[in-house]
Amino acid sequence: MCGIVGCVLDKKVAPTILKSIKKLEYRGYDSIGIATVTDTINVKKGQGKIDEVDSKLDFEDMGGNIGIAHVRWATHGNPTKENSHPHCDCNNNISVVHNGIIENYKDLRKELMDEGHQFKSETDTEVIPHLIEKYLDEGLEYLEAVQTTIKRLNGSYALAILNKDMPDTLIGVRNESPLIVGVSDNGNYVASDVPAILNETNKVIYLKDKEIIRLTKDNVEVMNLDLEPIEKEVTKITWSPDRAEKGGYDHFMIKEIYEEPQVIKDTLSEAEKIKDIVGKFKKFNRICFVACGTSYHASLVGEYLIESQTGIPTEVMLASEFDYFQNTIDEDTLIIFITQSGETADTIKALKKIKNKAETLAIVNVVGSTITREADHVIYTRAGPEISVAATKTYISQLVCIYLLVAYLNEDEELIEKLYSISKLSEQLLDNEEHIQEIAKKYKDANNFFYVGRGFNYPTALEGALKLKEITYIHGEGYPAGELKHGPLALLDENIPVVGILPPGPSYNKTFNNLEEIKARGANLILLCANDDTQVDGMGDTLRFNPIIDEELAPLLYIIDLQFLAYYISIERGIDPDKPKNLAKSVTVE
Ligand code: AGP
Ligand code: GLU
Repeated sequence: MCGIVGCVLDKKVAPTILKSIKKLEYRGYDSIGIATVTDTINVKKGQGKIDEVDSKLDFEDMGGNIGIAHVRWATHGNPTKENSHPHCDCNNNISVVHNGIIENYKDLRKELMDEGHQFKSETDTEVIPHLIEKYLDEGLEYLEAVQTTIKRLNGSYALAILNKDMPDTLIGVRNESPLIVGVSDNGNYVASDVPAILNETNKVIYLKDKEIIRLTKDNVEVMNLDLEPIEKEVTKITWSPDRAEKGGYDHFMIKEIYEEPQVIKDTLSEAEKIKDIVGKFKKFNRICFVACGTSYHASLVGEYLIESQTGIPTEVMLASEFDYFQNTIDEDTLIIFITQSGETADTIKALKKIKNKAETLAIVNVVGSTITREADHVIYTRAGPEISVAATKTYISQLVCIYLLVAYLNEDEELIEKLYSISKLSEQLLDNEEHIQEIAKKYKDANNFFYVGRGFNYPTALEGALKLKEITYIHGEGYPAGELKHGPLALLDENIPVVGILPPGPSYNKTFNNLEEIKARGANLILLCANDDTQVDGMGDTLRFNPIIDEELAPLLYIIDLQFLAYYISIERGIDPDKPKNLAKSVTVE
């Protein structure tokens, strides 16, 4: 999830590798580690910021002309020194840094332990050096041992690998986690991202999934999984270092929106864990969600889903208001705390108050954060670090967890299948972006917006409006579509754009009628609806979605367009969407 660097140079590698890994600090991390090869593999690693760990361990002191480095954003195992990368095999011959998640690590770990391999960490990553060791012991050549290992891994991985016995060769592999190659006259590099190597070279080779690279000081070979050579183009990077940090995007927010299709896939990989946790729940007859902000909106989707699908009475409380309602909680209640950061003071306080009274589950993005230590059960969303203050990809990952939770509570196989099909569709959504830019230009000077939706999509209206407020400073209000006629219609005129969320499904006709009422008051409509919806023709701007996304699934994908809309209005208004005024990424005060 975070960052890796590796290089083979014509000089001592440690100073360069340290400089390079520092360039990936912006991605957010909890631990740092470096390995180099001399006549042995040298590893230095620790939990904390690079400078802190460096002042204790002195990374630059490490010898060797070849090395790998890692900044970790923990997904499996808490952020501790033992879990920091690089990880080695039993005999310290192989050293690996990894970004991503090995989904089948449990089975592999068991198999390797049964064969006598000794594990030193709780990470999913550690199976990789042990697998390579196993295949080398079985007599395979180094590259074949790596190839056989990769064929056994399910999940996402960018890898950089060292072998004590091949001290001039670095191997890299990419699959669904970013990895690029840097080429220079003084040596060659692999890195998660361009900024890591931009000080050393601007010549880059982009890798595709399932490609393997073998680097020496003077040579770069790219191969497919069958170890056949692949011709690659070398690209010259002309971005500024600031832009390079954002993977070529102008802002983290847009980068993070673009990561959403992958986030959906990564979070679906938690399905088995969620199933296990559901199996462990005590008997409960009521569910209560507690959260703030965007996490509160994800909880509201949970309320609609659980009540309609399972019939279990469910409610959602704002963490900051929890004090006033906690007396209604008893031991038959399951309380679900949702928080991206795991550090939101209001949410932590609510959990601490209630934890001995009811069973608690936390849905969290940051491994090892405070809330994960307090709850009975923890589900991790797999969004990776989110830098932009406005939550985007973490919201999507929270929703995926909630849908999986509901599917397992209800033993609903069909819903699980639908989620997998949604993950394939999500990439197409990025196609609406250009049209959204035009809409943003049209409405950038509005002072007020309404967002309306019904049922499952009322929370989408609230979340769309929150995004608008946060990063454009325009007042946006989310409303249930049927509620405008009970008051807010009085406000409407041609100066107030109204975003209508209108997916196909049982609520369609009622929502459509409400939008007609709005149109009749002169307001300008922006409609999110299915590709084949002809009823809306002539009613306003439309943003179109695949018709198989019905109203039950729409919360997962329709919000992506509203995130884009807020983003582009923010750009039109000259605001930095990553750092909205008056807000902080983690709200650690009550
Ligand atoms: C979302 O864009 C906001 N930054 C904010 O509402 C946030 O969702 C809220 O502070 C809760 O944070 P948490 O998920 O880390 O607990
Ligand atoms: N899944 C690995 C771990 O938890 C890698 C995390 C990362 O990408 O930083 O150690």
